[in-house]
Amino acid sequence: MSKNHSFTEEQFHSKNFGDDFIWGISASAPQSEGAHNIDGKGFSIWDTFSERRKKILNGDTPKRASEFYHHYKEDIGIIKSLQIPNFRFSISWSRILPNGVGAINQQGIDFYNRVIDECLANNIEPWVTLYHWDLPLVLSQKGGWTNREIIYWFEEYVTLCIRTFGDRVKNWMILNEPMVFTGAGYFLGVHAPGEKGLKKFLPSVHNAVLCQAIGAKVIKDENALANVGSTFSCSYITPNSKSAKDIAAANRIDALLNRLFIEPALGLGYPVTELPLLKKIEKYIKSGDENIMRADFDFIGLQNYTREVVAHTYFVPYLQAKVIPANKRKVYHTNMDWEVYPEAIYEMIKKISNYDRVKKIIVTENGAAFHDTITADKIYDEERINFLSNYLKQVYHAKTDGHKISGYFVWALTDNFEWTEGYYPRFGLVHVNFETQKRIIKDSGYWYKKFLKQKETP
Ligand code: FCB
Repeated sequence: MSKNHSFTEEQFHSKNFGDDFIWGISASAPQSEGAHNIDGKGFSIWDTFSERRKKILNGDTPKRASEFYHHYKEDIGIIKSLQIPNFRFSISWSRILPNGVGAINQQGIDFYNRVIDECLANNIEPWVTLYHWDLPLVLSQKGGWTNREIIYWFEEYVTLCIRTFGDRVKNWMILNEPMVFTGAGYFLGVHAPGEKGLKKFLPSVHNAVLCQAIGAKVIKDENALANVGSTFSCSYITPNSKSAKDIAAANRIDALLNRLFIEPALGLGYPVTELPLLKKIEKYIKSGDENIMRADFDFIGLQNYTREVVAHTYFVPYLQAKVIPANKRKVYHTNMDWEVYPEAIYEMIKKISNYDRVKKIIVTENGAAFHDTITADKIYDEERINFLSNYLKQVYHAKTDGHKISGYFVWALTDNFEWTEGYYPRFGLVHVNFETQKRIIKDSGYWYKKFLKQKETP
């Protein structure tokens, strides 16, 4: 069981975690770059999905976002001023390969060269995510993740990235949260590209499982010394009651949300026993796939925000299980209706650490959206500070318990485009006025700086 450490504010800081613990901050291209049709970029599925009626809150689109494309120097300058040593961002596939494959857009390459060089010039280590959900539209029109051809498209894209940026980028994450982009994008239809049903979901799952391993292999083949991982969303699952039905329902949701992508990568195959609907995935598996699916990750990127409470129901097809929203349970929650439950991160680190084949875990995302109090030049966000501090205490506890946790990145650098919720939830340590694009560091940004206690750089 997790426990609470009683630290005073002064006693709890990054040095408690040891000198080699990795500290960082995260962002992604589709949520922050904007400039969606500038300098030769092709459309991504999010550019067009957001044009569809009622798909995104308030009709927001990612087309402008926080304009990282134009403000990258300022934003990297802020990271430096907060003395955060590592920056995770993603490459937009359609910015460098507007058609997904084939012709290269040199202006897109130039942009990422500038971003990487700016990081290095400021002593900030770049951590690059290759796929953070923004599939080139042209590839989506050919079936996107449902089309097995994607393994070749993806291989071409990853090869281009490692050959172009690999002389300076050492840390790579292949996919961002495949469970979310396949589940929300190809099963529920609430994320781009808006596809629905098991027949779309299952091939997408299998192709993403193949790609996460193929991507890692491409990078390692080019540079055996690269530090390669992939990221996985995970939520601590608890049954709504002690009834056998609720417990079984919770196990199914756990298999779906927490095990579906990591276990095949670790050579354990799909969790079919606990999730019988996966029997239907067999028809997409070709002989030899078992070996391709197994990935050689140096680290697992764990992304945790909350826990889910699960009850049995006959009304949800395939799963017979439902998640009870935090507001219905009347528990403290963020603007995403995600319960604030710091022990969840401890439990998930422990769970993933228990797989023998996991070498290292890095929390590549954790953070919260709350209503910040905005004045002319200050942003008060005490709830976010408390959230981060309480979750970090659980990360610390996981470390002292001997689990394989070796790094932590806050989501997110700036307020940004939060997918179907548009610009309403604000996750940033840096406030953005989306009209003027003015940045103001929130109190939580200064808190993180103090927590990190890096030595002053000359
Ligand atoms: C994660 C996504 C990330 C961000 C956070 C709040 O699921 O990876 O892009 O939207 O949630």
